[in-house]
Amino acid sequence: MAHMLDALFLGRWRLRPAPGHTKRDLLSLHNLTIAEFSALLDLAEEMKQHPESFQGLLTGRTLALIFEKPSLRTRVTFEVGMVQLGGHPIYLAPADIALGKREVVKDVARNLARWVNTVAVRTFSQHILEEMAGETNIPIINALSDLLHPLQALADVLTLREVKGRLRGLRLAYVGDGNNVANALAQAAAKTGMHLSIATPRGYEPAASVFMQARVDALPNGAQISVVQEPADAVSGADAVYTDVWTSMGQEHEARDRKKFFANYQVDSALMSLAKPDAVFMHCLPAHRGDEVTDDVLDGPRSVVLEQAENRLHVAKAVLLALLGEPRV
Ligand code: CP
Ligand code: NVA
Repeated sequence: MAHMLDALFLGRWRLRPAPGHTKRDLLSLHNLTIAEFSALLDLAEEMKQHPESFQGLLTGRTLALIFEKPSLRTRVTFEVGMVQLGGHPIYLAPADIALGKREVVKDVARNLARWVNTVAVRTFSQHILEEMAGETNIPIINALSDLLHPLQALADVLTLREVKGRLRGLRLAYVGDGNNVANALAQAAAKTGMHLSIATPRGYEPAASVFMQARVDALPNGAQISVVQEPADAVSGADAVYTDVWTSMGQEHEARDRKKFFANYQVDSALMSLAKPDAVFMHCLPAHRGDEVTDDVLDGPRSVVLEQAENRLHVAKAVLLALLGEPRV
């Protein structure tokens, strides 16, 4: 593994920037090569098993967290992760900077780049992240946009790899809204050779651009990524069943309609019984209990949701190190 990591990383930990560039961002899992994706998972696993070996590696570094939407897991794991690595997080709530309202996005980004070493951003449009990345020479991290949730999908595949011992050839069923989490899972499947079947009502499919790109990215390792309408078609024979809220942050005005359209997309014990006997249940959380998942499934013995949540910490630390870690030279 050491030789492979040397080729991928600048110094011990930092992902190599593209020629002519000085930094990497993490805006979309599509931008990681298959080898980089796998190395990031290995790094997260290593950091989970031996946290003491990584203490202090980001001493003196500062992470700004711009959050335009609420968060429990993402905020806490970034803050705790940065502190465990010796660095310092600064949380900026929506009202603190009023991104794009008090000040245009590029001015916020250019100012921050003079003071901090990296910025994680939870926002609505993916374009805001791309603009911030283009305007600065510091790494910008996608802490969730309407389009993608890369840190979540990384933690999810790390969890699956731990539970199932492999990723290639596993069958993951996603039931519900073709949202940011579904999009990121399609990208993660493409990078790992995991099959993904997404069951969603017509009109709520994953973003066509992300989905088509993921299918192309999946070709080298044979992952099949498909969309179906019937939950049973996706779940039958699956190794893992995943769901997320029917109404994502920012869509609250659609909640009533969505409850109707998604009524048949609840993961309950009857649906779980169609999956393999050892199938696990997954959810990025927060869950809307009684909507997309029943209490008995969420709290049941097959649920790995808290393992996913724990792995958000290890993945956040791996990403911070891969973007900021000191090159050895
Ligand atoms: N899964 C996740 O991103 O949770 P938060 O919205 O609480 O950060
Ligand atoms: N799809 C959800 C994920 C929350 C972590 C949302 O965007 O609200």
